[in-house]
Amino acid sequence: MSKDSLTIKDNRTGESYELPITHGTIRAMDLRQIKTSEDDFGMMSYDPAYKNTASTTSRITFIDGDKGILRYRGYPIEELAEHATFLEVAYLLLTGELPTTPALDVFEHQITHHTMVHENIREFVDAFRYDAHPMGTLCSTVAALSTFYPDAKDLSNPELRRLQMHRIIAKMPTIAAYAYRHRRGLPYVYPDNDLSYAGNFLNMLFKMMEQTYTPNPIIERALDVLLILHADHEQNCSTSAMRAVGSSHVDPYSALSAACAALYGPLHGGANEAVVRMLTEIGSVAAIPEFVKRAKGGEERLMGFGHRVYKNYDPRAKVIKKLAYEVFEEMGKNPLIDIAVELERIALEDPYFVERKLYPNVDFYSGLIYESMGLPVDLFPVLFAIGRTPGWLAQWEEMLTDPEQKIARPRQVYLGEGERHYIPISER
Ligand code: CMC
Repeated sequence: MSKDSLTIKDNRTGESYELPITHGTIRAMDLRQIKTSEDDFGMMSYDPAYKNTASTTSRITFIDGDKGILRYRGYPIEELAEHATFLEVAYLLLTGELPTTPALDVFEHQITHHTMVHENIREFVDAFRYDAHPMGTLCSTVAALSTFYPDAKDLSNPELRRLQMHRIIAKMPTIAAYAYRHRRGLPYVYPDNDLSYAGNFLNMLFKMMEQTYTPNPIIERALDVLLILHADHEQNCSTSAMRAVGSSHVDPYSALSAACAALYGPLHGGANEAVVRMLTEIGSVAAIPEFVKRAKGGEERLMGFGHRVYKNYDPRAKVIKKLAYEVFEEMGKNPLIDIAVELERIALEDPYFVERKLYPNVDFYSGLIYESMGLPVDLFPVLFAIGRTPGWLAQWEEMLTDPEQKIARPRQVYLGEGERHYIPISER
């Protein structure tokens, strides 16, 4: 008998089955041969929230949650955050390799020359209510882009797919900046092709009457690093949404809009916004013990803490904590940092958090940096979305080109009523 197999004995029938083990997994479809009778549908596995189910193989991002390791295409996140640019990382995620200088030049040119959006998109953003949450504006506007690019429906052409990916990476900051300026009642700023990806985004957010906008290099780099840290995170909620919706072979704009919607939620990309609101609500270091007590009692959730995969310090949170102090040196200290650091210290010593392996995640400090950059809290998930875009697209293309993937369609365990017959309303 091969060692790489699992023997299962069905005590209902006394039958034994041998299932092959590949990469530490068994195939759920192999369970279907386990039946009590010929007309039995066969065994399924039940896994709400996919806590222990791999929905795909992937070659993009590796996470070891127990050891706190995150790598994109094999490269440790710490090295990429220190040495690479966001567009270099986007290229790496999409193609599998770091670019050479000429390849990066071409890629940067392609992204830069797709940053403009159709003027109708500007008018579309204008139509949102004056106080529209920018994440709502982003989700809808990305979906609207699909109507501008009918060629995006052709998923079989790798060059056309690449073109849409470049368009989306290029246009996300433009839409995000439009959403921000709409909310502030400010005129929209067109992209400046002479600036870097992050520099141009700052330009579109903050340019006022000056002829040309010159980004602060420390803020520009900090923003670029934050985008790198968010660029991919394997099969998280929004990426799974991107893959699931994309598996119906809808165009990538529509699929990416679904991913944005998934990211909007406070348990996912909305957590950075929730952290700042939480720290503001706590208000002082003295009020932390009472807050922690309520979190332990289940009345509150310590936002920015805990992760489905990391049962150790999130490696991204480490980089961000350091980055926070660099930004504060430039922009002045964010007063909420003292509350954050003390909250982290208390939580990391408290048996409730220690036993549950709840550590700060990527969102615990990122919101404080964004706030120090002068960005309003409701723009934070939008920044997360811009960073995550290359990851969503790389995962989308991997799904499309994977011969094992089909339209996503989970099973259920039906626990409702058996058959019953219609009763006329007068007799109910
Ligand atoms: N504060 C207090 N208790 C918590 C927290 C928290 N932040 N997170 C988990 N717990 C407790 C939870 O109550 C449960 O306790 P018990 O075993 O007594 O019932 C235990 O820890 C396990 O939690 P869970 O909810 O089963 O864990 P999960 O894997 O389903 O949830 C999570 C992961 C991220 C949704 C959750 O930890 C959470 O809600 N954190 C706060 C929101 C947050 O920061 N989200 C950003 C995640 S990182 C960015 C991203 O990838 O989107």
